[in-house]
Amino acid sequence: MDQRPEAESSRRVPIVGVKEIDDDHREILFFLAQIKTNKENTPKILDVLSTFVQKHFAAEERLLRDACCPKPMVDSHSRDHARIQDLFVDGLVCQAPTCEQLDAFRVAILDHIGSFDMVMAEWCRMVQFVPKESPQTES
Ligand SMILES: [Fe+2]
Repeated sequence: MDQRPEAESSRRVPIVGVKEIDDDHREILFFLAQIKTNKENTPKILDVLSTFVQKHFAAEERLLRDACCPKPMVDSHSRDHARIQDLFVDGLVCQAPTCEQLDAFRVAILDHIGSFDMVMAEWCRMVQFVPKESPQTES
């Protein structure tokens, strides 16, 4: 059995069923695992992760709009992205992150995936909407 940190993280990520989104989620959890095991490169990893998370959230919000999700769903989802972004900036970027801050951010991401992203994916299935391009590769 593969015991690499990224493999462990991947096992715990809820699967929403939209490949592009699931791939991004695994990547985010991979970055977080890397910070824990690669302390000397933490600033660089946080920088890359910050950009990745921003693009991912923007892609999800674009998906919500493209799939014609109801506005209250789009708004609440976007607010939760902003909450997580604040956690990221306050807890990780503005200081050397502690294990507790990393865990808190990881839990926030996993909770978001297990709730908001699951609802988004369920809506996409319900209206039979399939994203045309990968969220991270779309310009
Ligand atoms: Fe989301």
